[in-house]
Amino acid sequence: MGIKRFGVSLEEELLESLDDFVKKNKFPNRSQAIRFLIKNNLVEEKWEENEEVAGAIVLVYDHHKREVQNKSTEIQHNYHHSILSVQHVHLDHNNCLESILVKGKAVELKALSEKLISIKGIQHGKLVTTTKE
Ligand code: NI
Repeated sequence: MGIKRFGVSLEEELLESLDDFVKKNKFPNRSQAIRFLIKNNLVEEKWEENEEVAGAIVLVYDHHKREVQNKSTEIQHNYHHSILSVQHVHLDHNNCLESILVKGKAVELKALSEKLISIKGIQHGKLVTTTKE
């Protein structure tokens, strides 16, 4: 991939905001920060336009509530074509952390994550959105 340089004109205040952002997030330079921001925007667009995307759904729940696991398994089987892998770790005596890696149409993945996160008994759930390019 070739790298091209271009000049950017910014208001002083906006440039200060960019530099704060660079510092706060420990980017090595402005270019890396701008790359990150553009990429974030492209990912968001792809998800909004229902393109082929990827992501991770993270769930935390108490495994003593058996119905949570049953319901989650049932939903995951309905979306088996979208699920790449599932990792389950036992955080402590009660709590489980599950990460479900997904790939497919954005609308499908959003629906899957909403169904999982809204299961009664899920303590925390989050969908991380990304794309392959
Ligand atoms: Ni567990």
